Amino acid sequence: MLGFLVGLQIVGLVVASSSDLSDKCYFVPLPSIPPSTANRTVPWGEPTIHYANGTTCCSSLDEIRENLDTIDAQLVKLLSTRASYVREATRFKSTLADVNDPSRNQQVIQGAVDAAPSVHLPQIVAEIVYEGIINSSVLFEECIVSTTPISEVICS
Ligand SMILES: *[C@@H]1O[C@H](CO)[C@@H](O)[C@H](O)[C@H]1NC(C)=O
Ligand SMILES: *[C@@H]1O[C@H](CO)[C@@H](O)[C@H](O)[C@H]1NC(C)=O
Ligand SMILES: *[C@@H]1O[C@H](CO)[C@@H](O)[C@H](O)[C@H]1NC(C)=O
Repeated sequence: MLGFLVGLQIVGLVVASSSDLSDKCYFVPLPSIPPSTANRTVPWGEPTIHYANGTTCCSSLDEIRENLDTIDAQLVKLLSTRASYVREATRFKSTLADVNDPSRNQQVIQGAVDAAPSVHLPQIVAEIVYEGIINSSVLFEECIVSTTPISEVICS
């Protein structure tokens, strides 16, 4: 039984969820996770990644990790570009205290959580990743501001 089918156009794959209960894992708050010592024979269940060409993934943990490594390399590049704009934002902030704007931060995090279901991203991932992106960006911006001498600020 397919709980739902979502086409992820960016990577050209279709993800099939096989359990209506597991669908809850895509939303916050997560259901409570009861303790368990059950030991499963792996791989269990059916592949949940279906490519547009009709094949499925994955048949080994190594194959999965290769895909994750490729995605992580893309994420690192995107985060670098994002950090460039975060740095640029400091030029429009006149005091160190202006760097952290909690209401804007909350808006960005909530925006990611709200958008997550439309691209089949688990909301818990969106929430915590965005908190991490925002928190670390604040530290980076504060560092840039405090290490840029006022003389440079005036001359430019
Ligand atoms: C689970 O079962 C496998 C295979 O029988 C065994 O190698 C492994 O040690 C077990 N793990 C635990 C935590 O009991
Ligand atoms: C099907 O698509 C996947 C993902 O793009 C690719 O890795 C795989 O090699 C393709 N398989 C065939 C038989 O075309
Ligand atoms: C981000 O910072 C907020 C406020 O200090 C804190 O509540 C939250 O746990 C932090 N989240 C992460 C993922 O670092």
